[in-house]
Amino acid sequence: MTEQPSSVANQNNPPTLLDGIMTTRALRRLSTTPIPEDVLWEILAAGQQGPSGGNIQPWQFLVVRDEATRRGLGEIYSRTYARYEKAMLAVAPPQRPENEASWQRTLAASRHLAQHFGESPAIIAIAMADISMELTDEYGPLDVGTAFASAYPAVQNLILAARHHGVGTALTTVYRIEHDAVRDCLSIPKTHQVIALLPLGYPLGKFGVAKRRPVETVTHWDSWGNKRAR
Ligand SMILES: Cc1cc2nc3c(=O)[nH]c(=O)nc-3n(C[C@H](O)[C@H](O)[C@H](O)COP(=O)(O)O)c2cc1C
Repeated sequence: MTEQPSSVANQNNPPTLLDGIMTTRALRRLSTTPIPEDVLWEILAAGQQGPSGGNIQPWQFLVVRDEATRRGLGEIYSRTYARYEKAMLAVAPPQRPENEASWQRTLAASRHLAQHFGESPAIIAIAMADISMELTDEYGPLDVGTAFASAYPAVQNLILAARHHGVGTALTTVYRIEHDAVRDCLSIPKTHQVIALLPLGYPLGKFGVAKRRPVETVTHWDSWGNKRAR
């Protein structure tokens, strides 16, 4: 890929916190331009600040820059994405005409990522110890939430800190179809699960506000069903 990343200039001009959140979207077309190690450390440090139940901090970050290892992950991702896409398209409802163009763009970008995953200059694997958060008292088991919920805030912090530095990514999980192969590729022991792979790179596309339902349509005030105009 020889195209110039659009956001290298952006690195010296980070967005405010809220602008960064509002303009972080999945970026799947990434430049091969290396990401400086100090930038990677800042991204990782932000991930490490993520909250977790009881502050257990169950994650480990594995930063993959080695070319052969990235290629190995890329091959797994490409295979698993192909299976995912076929199965997903078989059940996907027809798109409304007004959504068709953006659906096709997302599909094209997802295929692009699947073909070029291993060319991302750095891939962060987020691994998590296979633990149960379940507690029990004299009345029985206490459901205090799933264990994965204690790791995804750290993943989102990584993504937002990358945005701060003009680095794009998309949270990916389809590799889980071949989870053991990913663990083998990265020498991760069976005591840990890989909960996300973040292919990082300076984006060839642009950050921007992603399409979502209007917030007022998903917000209830004081009791379920009581909605208000914004
Ligand atoms: C748990 C989770 C798993 C995801 N897995 C993948 C994936 O395997 N591959 C991929 O291309 N995008 C993946 N995504 C990205 C979503 O498709 C993306 O966040 C969503 O479509 C919204 O994109 P937007 O912010 O650009 O609108 C995943 C996102 C989440 C939160």
